[in-house]
Amino acid sequence: MTTSLKVKVWRGKQDGAFVSYEVPRRESQTVLDVVTYIQRHLDSTLSYRFSCRVGMCGSCAMTVNGVARWTCRTHVSKVASNGELEIAPLSNLPVVKDLATDMSEFFDKWARGKGQFKGTRTRHEEFASVDPASKARVAASAGIECIGCGVCYASCDVVTWRPAFLGPAALNRAWTLVNDVRDANQEERLRAVAGDSGCHACHTQGSCTQRCPKQIAPTAGIAGLKLLAARAALRGKL
Ligand code: SF4
Ligand code: SF4
Ligand code: FES
Repeated sequence: MTTSLKVKVWRGKQDGAFVSYEVPRRESQTVLDVVTYIQRHLDSTLSYRFSCRVGMCGSCAMTVNGVARWTCRTHVSKVASNGELEIAPLSNLPVVKDLATDMSEFFDKWARGKGQFKGTRTRHEEFASVDPASKARVAASAGIECIGCGVCYASCDVVTWRPAFLGPAALNRAWTLVNDVRDANQEERLRAVAGDSGCHACHTQGSCTQRCPKQIAPTAGIAGLKLLAARAALRGKL
């Protein structure tokens, strides 16, 4: 193991540049540990975002040697075999400063894809019971653990080419709700995801599915949405 790491870190806004630092190598060191070392010992003005450090909050995602990852769950030994690291903000999102991105558009797209649950029952009625083994519940469960980290979104070429594309996370959210039998907003949601910026824009090459740290497959949900949207169009319901 080398005794130090050569680390290039993005500094500034969209038009910033990489700055080089030397960071001591440690046992079981994560990329987030490296960023934290720089901020605490080398340059306290470095901006970045994290919270849980254990892969639960999704706030620490950055681009590490060209690939979007959770930095708290990425060991340096896995990504810097030659002792070099390049750490940049997530792609496809505006840079606030250094490694911190503005996630507003990412979450606005969840809303545009009708990612909000709207129940069919009131609080005065019995809870709906959903069979955990039913096809719809199994399909919803496959995508429900998304924590909104943006790794898939930053890895999606179509978002880069067509900034209006809702992207894998918003479409995955829509798919979980399409399969939620308690939800009352189904037609409106299908119309929202079937437009030019919706599911049909996805080219199905699967970078989102390959990179999602939660092993979610947005590509599968998007394929499901395409099928439902095509069926609804044939019935004249879109
Ligand atoms: S689908 Fe996966 S990669 Fe995308 S935001 Fe959710 S947890 Fe992150
Ligand atoms: S499969 Fe679709 S949503 Fe996923 S990265 Fe490719 S274009 Fe984006
Ligand atoms: S800090 Fe919460 S997922 Fe990395």
